[in-house]
Amino acid sequence: MDLKPARILGIESSCDETAASVVENGRSILSSVVATQIELHAKYGGVFPEVASRQHIRTIYAVIDEALQQAHMGLTDVDAVAVTRGPGLAGSLVVGVNAAKGLVLGRNIPLIGINHLEGHICSAWLYHADTSRPPEAPKFPLLALLVSGGHTELNLMTDYLQYRRLGATLDDAAGEAFDKVARLIGLPYPGGPSIQKAAADGDPEAFKFPRSRLDGTWNFSFSGLKTAVLRVVRELEKTNRILPVNDLAASFQAAVVDSLFTKTMKAAREFEVKSVVVAGGVSANRALRDTFLHQSEFPVHIPPLSFCTDNAAMIASAGYFHYMAGHKDPLDLDVLPNWPLS
Ligand SMILES: Nc1ncnc2c1ncn2[C@@H]1O[C@H](COP(=O)(O)OP(=O)(O)OP(=O)(O)O)[C@@H](O)[C@H]1O
Ligand SMILES: [Mg+2]
Repeated sequence: MDLKPARILGIESSCDETAASVVENGRSILSSVVATQIELHAKYGGVFPEVASRQHIRTIYAVIDEALQQAHMGLTDVDAVAVTRGPGLAGSLVVGVNAAKGLVLGRNIPLIGINHLEGHICSAWLYHADTSRPPEAPKFPLLALLVSGGHTELNLMTDYLQYRRLGATLDDAAGEAFDKVARLIGLPYPGGPSIQKAAADGDPEAFKFPRSRLDGTWNFSFSGLKTAVLRVVRELEKTNRILPVNDLAASFQAAVVDSLFTKTMKAAREFEVKSVVVAGGVSANRALRDTFLHQSEFPVHIPPLSFCTDNAAMIASAGYFHYMAGHKDPLDLDVLPNWPLS
């Protein structure tokens, strides 16, 4: 693909984050604004869809305005608007897509609908504009491990925009497993960061939790692990013992990281890739990052920490590669709440 200079405004509203960002050439982050609704939903222990869409309505234009201001730009300075089209909550996606339509209509620039999962993967190409030495871009063919709140899958990418799904979770997503296990052991939502924090003071070998192998496939499974944690918790509660929360968190985290790392390395060898990308909310996990960055036999690319969870820079990055490929969507673009990546 011939990559020419361009600036893309990205908009993201698929779940509980309202976000906008300007990214240059698919990689350099000129601005990124994320208005999170975590506190609004915390009392429900998860995202309440109607509350989410109405909050997006309240914040989206202020967030877009702030992203343009931080990039010292007006709408006339961007070449296209990329917006998350799916997967996600329909009522939330509609808010971002309609805001994007309003913007492109006024400027007569392309509207590009982006798959949120593709966005997560593209976040591994991002770096802050003030970085003195931009990191090398991932090389193709590559293996992309996507580990987020709703998805866990391994994709083989032979080039930009080319995804072949090798396998995925058969039950819970990795992030979902973190969230559910956190609840089981009494840690607050969202579970990922809470488990990471508790695990820092725990022994990862205190409990021998199972690693699902599913040999002969590139799939994952985390429900057996979750049940194993539940069994230990019930056993300890029966005897009125205090839960060793730190050890449980550390042992659970180690089992997840081990399963993800082992299978990804096996697939990377099998498909003889040149690099490995790890992206999605769970790629913010310190133990996962350390394992991939220090133990991999392949060059590993993981997004900057604040670009692992939902943001709009990743949508702008994916938008850039589609813009370079000449993709453009019509103004009657609808949202796709269950849109698979490949
Ligand atoms: N440090 C961390 N360790 C482990 N998990 C984490 C960490 N930080 C965030 N997560 C998990 O990442 C998930 C959120 O990631 P993300 O924003 O990518 O998910 P999502 O957008 O809800 O789902 P999807 O992208 O699949 O639609 C949550 O499940 C959260 O617990
Ligand atoms: Mg996400």
